[in-house]
Amino acid sequence: MAKKIPIGVLASGSGSNLQSLIDHIEAGKLDAEIRVVLCNNADAYALERCRKHNIPTRVVNHREFTSRELFDQRMIEILNACGVTLVVMAGFMRILSPEFFRAFPLRIMNIHPALLPSFPGTHVQQKALDYGVRFSGCTVHFADEGVDSGPIIIQAVVPVLDDDTVESLAERILNEEHRIYPQAVQYFAEDKIEIVGRRVRIRTGRPAAEKPLSNPPLASHV
Ligand code: GRF
Repeated sequence: MAKKIPIGVLASGSGSNLQSLIDHIEAGKLDAEIRVVLCNNADAYALERCRKHNIPTRVVNHREFTSRELFDQRMIEILNACGVTLVVMAGFMRILSPEFFRAFPLRIMNIHPALLPSFPGTHVQQKALDYGVRFSGCTVHFADEGVDSGPIIIQAVVPVLDDDTVESLAERILNEEHRIYPQAVQYFAEDKIEIVGRRVRIRTGRPAAEKPLSNPPLASHV
């Protein structure tokens, strides 16, 4: 078995992406070990998921800190103490400080439920519906100091259907998130990621045209 990379996951809510990472690890498809899950919200369902799988958790409540920097400093300390080499943001609803990015340069991944650079920020399924795009999707990218602006690792496209609601579109996008996030982390684990400027290249040993970095097969209902 390949060496497992130690990761730390940051979550604030439901944690379905966290669950997908756990499931891929348990199925032997992702060479990673979740050393710690950090939550800023003690009620996050992500914590319950960890209990079921014996994954260590720490709650760091941002309200107990007088500044963003002090909150981030505490998270950095915990992640370093756990020997984390990759930080995986999975629905983490806090903006990170420059200090945090300096602590883990190009070692923080995020997943965003839109095709960046379209619709950064929040409420993006609503924005995609309001704009009337025919396709949306999700993006795994390295996080940087901007909002959803770092180098893109994988994107997946989903159609926007005429009768979609925010909920139905979000669900279709989430299904793709759960597929591409573990894949991106696995590329990192296999040391296949190369970053040239803004562009991420994946060393798969296959011809560029066959690399799984563009659209997945579209869903069967299209
Ligand atoms: C996902 O849509 C993700 O793209 C965004 O926040 C949501 C988190 O969902 N960053 P979950 O907590 O993983 O279920």
